[in-house]
Amino acid sequence: MWLYLVGVLSLYYLLRWYRERQVVSHLRDKYVFITGCDSGFGNMLARQLDLRGLRVLAACLTEQGAEQLRGQTSDRLETVTMDVTQTESIAAATQWVKERVGDRGLWGLVNNAGISVPSAPNEWLTKQDFVKVLDVNLLGVIEVTLSMLPLVRKARGRVVNVCSVMGRISFCGGGYSISKYGVEAFSDSLRREISSFGVKVAIIEPGFFKTEIINTETFLTKYQELWDQASPDVKDAYGKKFLDSYMKAIETKGKNSSPRLSLVTDCMEHALTACHPHTRYSPGWDAKLFYLPMSYMPTALVDAMIYLKSPRPAKAM
Ligand SMILES: NC(=O)c1ccc[n+]([C@@H]2O[C@H](COP(=O)([O-])OP(=O)(O)OC[C@H]3O[C@@H](n4cnc5c(N)ncnc54)[C@H](OP(=O)(O)O)[C@@H]3O)[C@@H](O)[C@H]2O)c1
Repeated sequence: MWLYLVGVLSLYYLLRWYRERQVVSHLRDKYVFITGCDSGFGNMLARQLDLRGLRVLAACLTEQGAEQLRGQTSDRLETVTMDVTQTESIAAATQWVKERVGDRGLWGLVNNAGISVPSAPNEWLTKQDFVKVLDVNLLGVIEVTLSMLPLVRKARGRVVNVCSVMGRISFCGGGYSISKYGVEAFSDSLRREISSFGVKVAIIEPGFFKTEIINTETFLTKYQELWDQASPDVKDAYGKKFLDSYMKAIETKGKNSSPRLSLVTDCMEHALTACHPHTRYSPGWDAKLFYLPMSYMPTALVDAMIYLKSPRPAKAM
């Protein structure tokens, strides 16, 4: 009986392994457009796909970032500057892509650009603080996708949206988690609509990785700024000790994040090149063993876990 079970399981994993390794043909003719290539995952993916021989169209926020990337890659990789919050910038980049891909269409669109600040306890923030993050992380993804989708449909290609474990579980105030929950919802509806045209949509949900977006210094400076601007009522309710503990927690999170960015870019590459890409990828042990299991737990249990780990405001009951 046990032998039979082991045999069936081994066969299942062998077939899965084989299926996962099937790669689409003519990779060297395929164009992939990636947003946010100045640094982090986007920058690494651009270089990785360039090495693999794909035709990379890398969008950077700054010309300086674009120039640096061109200096590290082959002549086949081309760059464009694009701000995902600016409609004209997206329209110009789409036209630029259209001129390059021609009748082949765009094989891959990777929505990677993102920001994480301002983020702090919700009460410390203004509507504008939420808008700033949502504009890049959610509306940027939606507008770039809508603009490029006709080109992706033509190639029967792939849309890869970079989300986060924080799109599965929300434990920090501000727009970041909200934006990532939004990207999950947008990706799910898009996948269901667009599959009939042969387009596949994949979602990448990384845990915490050492990139500029989780730069401890940036967070600490921003927290201090938000604290300084907070109303006397908020300051009284939370107290300076809360701010200090909150900052310490951020420093620890920064130290504990993974330096292995390739875990994420390998998932992106698989989503773009495999015949059978996954719908969701969860790179990072923290994502696999902690955040995702937590997202399936009863809300009351998760609330209690987060409550126990969080600093206590001065006027907490
Ligand atoms: N690192 C993590 O732990 C982690 C975890 C989960 C998900 N993610 C997601 O991964 C994605 C990439 O982030 P990362 O970790 O690689 O951080 P990163 O190094 O800060 O990369 C983000 C990129 O987006 C660009 N960008 C910012 N605002 C933009 C705008 N308005 N238009 C166009 N580009 C813009 C940045 O340009 P500049 O460098 O010029 O500012 C940068 O190149 C983000 O969507 C992030 O939410 C990261």
